[in-house]
Amino acid sequence: MIKAHPFVKWAGGKRQIMDKLKKFIPEEFNTYYEPFVGGGALLFELSPKKAVINDENSELMNVYQVLTRDKDFEELLKLLNNYEKNHSEEFYYRIRNIDKDQKKFNKLTRIERAARTIYLNKACFNGLYRVNQKGEFNVPFNKKNKINTYDSQNMTLAYVYFQLNDITIRNEDFEQAVKGAKKGDFVYLDPPYDSEHEDTFNSYTELGFGKQEQIRLAKVFKELSDRGCCVMLSNHNTQLINELYKDYYIHVITAKRAINSKGNKRGKVEEVIITNYEKKEE
Ligand SMILES: C[S@@+](CC[C@H](N)C(=O)[O-])C[C@H]1O[C@@H](n2cnc3c(N)ncnc32)[C@H](O)[C@@H]1O
Repeated sequence: MIKAHPFVKWAGGKRQIMDKLKKFIPEEFNTYYEPFVGGGALLFELSPKKAVINDENSELMNVYQVLTRDKDFEELLKLLNNYEKNHSEEFYYRIRNIDKDQKKFNKLTRIERAARTIYLNKACFNGLYRVNQKGEFNVPFNKKNKINTYDSQNMTLAYVYFQLNDITIRNEDFEQAVKGAKKGDFVYLDPPYDSEHEDTFNSYTELGFGKQEQIRLAKVFKELSDRGCCVMLSNHNTQLINELYKDYYIHVITAKRAINSKGNKRGKVEEVIITNYEKKEE
């Protein structure tokens, strides 16, 4: 089966560590939950028949919604073709700055919003999604004269995936999004990374994700685990994370990371994959 892959570049995207991640997937599960779905690298890789996906980022989740509707999908591709034709630095800032005027932004259709999100992702510096405290997208232009906003085979595969399967799309806080998870379901938690350095990128939304959020997430992990779900979590190998998950299985892996708050910082970092079930590395 040919599978789709993420159609947006997403900070913390899991494609680089996919092979390692796959080794820890439970053999069997009912519904797949991914409450921090981002670009959905693992979602597409597993392509489960029944899933609940969520992210606090409303613009991103609107793109997934648009992908599930026939007419919207066609119109989205038309708009993206148009944006590619009009692409320039001036055009980029015009599209980017629409959210500085709430009235104007609210007039956009859901398809225009989805096209804007994909276009900005491809035309902004490093494919970063970053907003200021007012929720305004503030990433500069990537200075490329020509861009491709989508790969048509991949977009079609993603569209078909959503058509053929039972996928619930939500846009709320992670704690709420996993409320329905039951015994036998598999929950993959991929939150913004914890960091021992202040400059790690974690401002995907205007709310940010600090230590308190990591602690709240660890409580949700425990609740899900007590309920009989299989739970897997990715994070950096920090002291806090090791303390929070000391009762579970912690597997250390190394990953090459491409996006950091300073785009020029790329390198190997230690990450952890934590599971509440035992899975021996093959
Ligand atoms: C590390 S990224 C996920 C990357 C994803 N696994 C991928 O492959 O692209 C973390 C995601 O968490 C989302 N997020 C941040 N705070 C959240 C919250 N409180 N509830 C739900 N999602 C949140 C961000 O918008 C971001 O997309």
